[in-house]
Amino acid sequence: MGAKVKLCLIGTGRAGMIHAENFCTNVKDGEMAAVSDVDAERAQAAARELGVEKWYTDYRKAIRESGADAVIIATPTKFHCEIAVYAAENGLHIFCEKPMAMSVPECQRMIKAAEENKVILQIGFMRRFSEDFARAKEIAYSGEIGEIVMIKSLTRGPSTPHEWMYDIKKSNGPLAEVNSHDLDTLRWFSESEPESIYALGGNYRCEAAREQYPDFYDTVILNIRMKNGIIGCIEGAQGVGYGYDARVEILGTRGMITVGDLKKNSVVTCSKDGGMKSDIVESWRNLFETAYEKEDKAFIQCILEGEKPLAGGEDGLKAVAMVNAGNESITTGKIVTM
Ligand SMILES: NC(=O)c1ccc[n+]([C@@H]2O[C@H](COP(=O)([O-])OP(=O)(O)OC[C@H]3O[C@@H](n4cnc5c(N)ncnc54)[C@H](O)[C@@H]3O)[C@@H](O)[C@H]2O)c1
Repeated sequence: MGAKVKLCLIGTGRAGMIHAENFCTNVKDGEMAAVSDVDAERAQAAARELGVEKWYTDYRKAIRESGADAVIIATPTKFHCEIAVYAAENGLHIFCEKPMAMSVPECQRMIKAAEENKVILQIGFMRRFSEDFARAKEIAYSGEIGEIVMIKSLTRGPSTPHEWMYDIKKSNGPLAEVNSHDLDTLRWFSESEPESIYALGGNYRCEAAREQYPDFYDTVILNIRMKNGIIGCIEGAQGVGYGYDARVEILGTRGMITVGDLKKNSVVTCSKDGGMKSDIVESWRNLFETAYEKEDKAFIQCILEGEKPLAGGEDGLKAVAMVNAGNESITTGKIVTM
């Protein structure tokens, strides 16, 4: 490996380009070597935008021939496993966006491949790199709010889902796409694993999906009992329109902590006609900008120093197991014991 870790982005969509831009600007020990996307126009446009020469439509060729030391996997979830295993077998370190994969066996294959080939496997749970989230956890365990009783975590996104997300069999639905972060936060904050899960979902906004994808839900609520007795409540919604909403509440026996704010800044406008108004957070890109940057820096640090990632394969696997249990509960209407 040279002085800088060379990266190849696989999947040049929304999430992928955030990481690639970080590696081009804010992460000093990393540099973009190549991009790959099944869509040639997208691959070419991304290469141009990032100022990298090499672009590919076949991720296998990119992994073998680009000279990269590591991959950033940001394709639709159903491809994560095959790409990660191929990258590991070719000796490349892996940063894989959440959700880690579609199923627990897929996650196990990825973990095994990374271990056998001695490469880093980091999962894109960037909330673990948010200073606010880390501070909330620190306070929760300082004793200030007594014993933790309940953790509520919600994520609601403004935009209509991509079509590939409508097919639950191909995407695992909003529980995976939207709530993976909340599920990871619940494990991280409760320091425990789930015992039982009960979930309810419904499609209230995505008219386009209704006929072809009757199983699709755009709104979901999931209740969890953790093994240490803490109760969790996860809520998710897509296409809410009003903004990007990610908030957590930790309830203790003697107080509570909240993290997250709908307000984009501290500006409040009061007028005769408009009442009281504030600017709203529009996108996860803005809300977690610093956290994405920190997780990208941490990935390079893990590669260079051989450190264990803050969010690794086991964390990805546990979230996928919870997603699958939640989807099973929505389908069967039953409580699923983990
Ligand atoms: N951490 C986060 O906050 C966050 C935010 C958004 C998305 N994500 C995750 O990132 C992943 C991608 O989501 P997105 O919203 O960026 O999707 P997207 O649809 O915007 O981009 C996906 C890209 O992958 C390309 N692609 C599809 N199959 C491919 C293959 N086999 N090889 C190479 N390229 C391929 C597509 O052409 C597209 O350009 C998902 O797993 C999603 O859950 C994470």
